[in-house]
Amino acid sequence: MNKLLLNSIKDIQKKTPLWFLRQSGRHVPEYFEIRAKAKNFIEFCLNKNLVVESTKLPLKYYDLDAAIIFSDILMIPWAMNRGVKFVKGEGPILNPMVPDVTKIEKKIDIFQLLRPINDAMYILKKDLPSHISLIGFAGAPWTLSCYMIEGKGSKDFIKTRTALWEAKKWFKELIDTLIVYVAQKLELQARAGADVLMIFDSWSHMIPYPYFQEFGIKPVAKIIELLRSKNIQQPIIGFPFKAGTSLVQYSYESNVDCIALDWTVDLDWALKNLNSSIAFQGNLDPSSLISENNSYLEESVKSILQKMKNRKFIFNVGHGLTPECKIKNVKNVINMVRNYN
Ligand code: CP3
Repeated sequence: MNKLLLNSIKDIQKKTPLWFLRQSGRHVPEYFEIRAKAKNFIEFCLNKNLVVESTKLPLKYYDLDAAIIFSDILMIPWAMNRGVKFVKGEGPILNPMVPDVTKIEKKIDIFQLLRPINDAMYILKKDLPSHISLIGFAGAPWTLSCYMIEGKGSKDFIKTRTALWEAKKWFKELIDTLIVYVAQKLELQARAGADVLMIFDSWSHMIPYPYFQEFGIKPVAKIIELLRSKNIQQPIIGFPFKAGTSLVQYSYESNVDCIALDWTVDLDWALKNLNSSIAFQGNLDPSSLISENNSYLEESVKSILQKMKNRKFIFNVGHGLTPECKIKNVKNVINMVRNYN
């Protein structure tokens, strides 16, 4: 079966594929019923039946070209015994690692610990209509290290940035370890049937410029090299969130097949400056899906489609859907994209 999303990473298509980052989450009413069946969020992500149910949930409401496996980037820190918890109203909490002091866990078996993801993917592969691409994902080593060192989200990730130069040897060891585990998590998903793999670097804009190549680009290139050396050929979407002008170097050197662009990116600039051989994904502002007034939303959708006409392109939001996002607005966007010529 022809998968529009896969085709559009390889070549320019007449139709534009679409899906939405964080499409399975809290803006869909039944999400809370599914979540309530698990003791906590980690148990939820380790329950193959609940993972299957929530991955399929957005397809009940929307005509989409992809389903993203329901999981979280923090399942790797969880597997590394970092005590990951999701606390209501606070987001993720981990046992913070102290640079140069905390021992880095190097002996875990990702394939064993994350086996429920494998099992859920096998079920999804059978259940999903064949035109829908199944997306597997992982967090990039930098973003995972941010959560592991800080122990939570942060507005500036000062402890992580300081560790870059104050505890460089230790920090490199952490990144090198994460490269291996991220590659293994992606390998697991590719072998279980993922059509596409995505690497989220949600905090790439925290990397100081002199370190961007070393910690924002090289780890991604290394992960892709490891995957290709194991004959895993699925296309890779990279998402260096809000990386600004560093997107240029990332587009040429990370070896991703598609670059996801956040909502701050000027598409005319991107068309002029980024590697023209790779596909683009993005970049609708997810906040435009909240309002009752759809004029900005409709203007943005048209403008994105117009600019990306002669480009390998996947329509998406420039960051995750938020709980406030309205289903009827998402449906409006889907109609516009489907009817665009
Ligand atoms: O469509 C989907 O929602 C797919 C599954 C998915 C989740 N997390 C489920 C989730 C995906 C692709 C992610 C990725 C993820 N997780 C990222 C990268 C993308 C991005 O948003 O930048 C990051 C940084 C995380 C870490 C994370 N997980 C945070 C910061 C939080 C709390 C804040 C928030 O956004 O909810 C989570 C929890 C989380 N992951 C929820 C979901 C549905 C909410 C859990 C709940 O309260 O029920």
